[in-house]
Amino acid sequence: MAENNIHWHQALISRSDRELRHGHKSVILWFTGLSGAGKSTLAHAIERRLFEKHCATFVFDGDNVRHGLCSDLGFTQGDREENIRRVGEMAKLFTEAGVIAITAFISPFSADRERVRSLVATNDFIEIYCRCTIDVCEQRDVKGLYAKARQGLIPNFTGISSPYEIPQNPELTVDTGKLSLDECVEQVLAYLKLQRVIV
Ligand code: PPS
Repeated sequence: MAENNIHWHQALISRSDRELRHGHKSVILWFTGLSGAGKSTLAHAIERRLFEKHCATFVFDGDNVRHGLCSDLGFTQGDREENIRRVGEMAKLFTEAGVIAITAFISPFSADRERVRSLVATNDFIEIYCRCTIDVCEQRDVKGLYAKARQGLIPNFTGISSPYEIPQNPELTVDTGKLSLDECVEQVLAYLKLQRVIV
């Protein structure tokens, strides 16, 4: 933006050169779903399989990103919006680096997810809905957060005191509440092959 005295500096190495070297397309795999739905577990399991195939990958995980880049943000709607905006921009940079950026964020608001989608080209954003009922998530309660939220100790807790907007048209829905981890992984990998992201 010249009016801000800020100018775009063109990289010497193109994204397609990087993709050629890595042997796959660079995309954003955007996992969304309730806390405890299995987003992070699935994201890391997919990354392991892609890494074994020598793909260039990186996982952005909600809990981890909130330790640094987004440590100033909480869980109000505005803070979640900013969280997803930052992560979306970061994931976009990773696609420009020829990397498969794998993100695991609740990202409960459709508008925030759609904003990320609009940052990149049509086929570069793959929204993967980790479908799991709140009952199952609450039964699992791996981190004990649902119990705390029920006691009123965590404000704005997704699914209890803050909404989760189910994706209306995701590229993929994975039944993380019903299928095994391996089955979910295979489903995602099959989709990536079908779309020729990987060979
Ligand atoms: S969001 O909505 O996308 O900005 O959330 P995200 O960055 O993915 O962070 C979700 C993790 O933060 C923990 N946590 C909460 N989740 C939901 N609501 C509230 N109020 C909350 N407070 C803390 C929780 O461990 C989430 O991790 P996951 O992996 O989703 O269980």
